Amino acid sequence: MLRNFMFDVLSNMSIKTASVILAAGQGTRMCSNVPKVLHTLAGRPLMEYALDLGVGICNMTPIVVVGFESEKVQECIGDRAKVVLQEAQLGTGHALHQTGDLLRERADMILVWAADMPLLTKDILESVINVQSQNEGPVSIVTAISNDDRGFGRVVRSEFGEVQAIVEKSDATAEQLSINELNVGVYCFQSSWLWDELSALKPSSNGEYYLTDLIKSASLQNQNIGVVTTTAVDEIIGINTRIHLAEAETAVRTRINNSWMERGVTLIDPANTYIESSVTIGLDTVVLPNTHLQGNTVIGSECTIGPNSTIQNSVIGDRCKIESSVLDRAKLENDVDVGPFGHLRAGTHLDSGVHIGNFGEVKNSYLGPGVKMGHFSYVGDATIGARTNIGAGAITCNYGMDKNKHRTEIGEDVFIGSDTMLVAPLRIGSKARTGAGSVVTKDLPDGSLAAGVPARIISREVDDNIASRDE
Ligand code: UD1
Ligand code: MG
Repeated sequence: MLRNFMFDVLSNMSIKTASVILAAGQGTRMCSNVPKVLHTLAGRPLMEYALDLGVGICNMTPIVVVGFESEKVQECIGDRAKVVLQEAQLGTGHALHQTGDLLRERADMILVWAADMPLLTKDILESVINVQSQNEGPVSIVTAISNDDRGFGRVVRSEFGEVQAIVEKSDATAEQLSINELNVGVYCFQSSWLWDELSALKPSSNGEYYLTDLIKSASLQNQNIGVVTTTAVDEIIGINTRIHLAEAETAVRTRINNSWMERGVTLIDPANTYIESSVTIGLDTVVLPNTHLQGNTVIGSECTIGPNSTIQNSVIGDRCKIESSVLDRAKLENDVDVGPFGHLRAGTHLDSGVHIGNFGEVKNSYLGPGVKMGHFSYVGDATIGARTNIGAGAITCNYGMDKNKHRTEIGEDVFIGSDTMLVAPLRIGSKARTGAGSVVTKDLPDGSLAAGVPARIISREVDDNIASRDE
């Protein structure tokens, strides 16, 4: 076994294998102005899944064939692959032919697959490379056994079991349609055979040059066609329609959710928990249903997240509790609780033990350890010191009549009375207090009490009892 494996590895290292990802099609069946490969699956464009597979699979930089809306697709590819333009999308055979100038002299084997197969695994690609590197014939293919055809081409075999052709669903006879061996759309070609064959391709009944027709050519030349067959149906979902996209979404979700459960995260209802692949979650955290964890979100240990929460690109410490809330680019230290119905926007930083209750909104602000903001408040462009209490309905009026945003600085142990309007720019000293319904337009010194509209300072004496009151 090991010797065979070593043989495979060593022989593959001396063979130059190029990988080509076909991504030029519009994806007509998606009914979309967006190129198919830019549609997203678990938050990432299909193109990225193909690149993840392509980078490192062969010993040459992968090549992507682009066409429809090529600039947008190229932007997504960045410098992860070389790009070849197929100006008119005349079929998969024509698409591969466009890479001839780049690869004809440079590669011994050409691995090809379609960018609309995001669930393929490196294992499948490596298997077909291995089979082809030991095949005397010019091509190896991947087939799948499945009763759900998903519009795939059928693999036609002779009475002796040799592959003879791939017939597209639209061209298949009734008898061929009943074949349950499907063409996955992954091929590994011998380069010295491929390019002349591509030049000789004839258009199919719909005018497209089918890459799949090369299988029939090889068979007619009595050449051996290598085959790797898979029954892993959840790895071969090709995206041609939005229904396929939803199927793939379920498959990816299952993969991601299972992997988190295996790593010590409780998901109460995995079918209704949406975690993007870029997210990380700590041990013994519980994620409740209808929760969406997106982008570069990092969640600590022993948290309870959800139900009904959306968290994007946020960093959350240990033992936090987020209920029915929306977080975007927020940072939460340990032991913070938010919600129900909290909204933390970009630049929110909540230090340890902060409590944000129902209908609290925070943007671009730092709230120090133990700050409490229990009900219906808005804090924007503010810094709030430790243990300060923001009363129900209090608002930082940060948007001035000059159309600029202004900051509010609030000290430690401050008591902001219910419904206080803090008209920025403003500084509220530590241990200061405001009466209910005050409109504070001028800075308040440490320990003072202000009330009224506009607020006047009515005491400069510190009242330690008030500052420590809860809720
Ligand atoms: C293709 C195969 C089919 C196989 C299925 C598996 C052919 C003729 N058919 O069908 O046998 O079962 O994949 O997924 O190959 N593309 C280009 N340029 C073009 C046309 C397509 O780059 O001119 C790209 C597309 O962007 C896509 C891929 O090639 O990523 C496959 O094209 P698609 O139209 O999806 O082919 P299928 O009908 O799925
Ligand atoms: Mg397809």
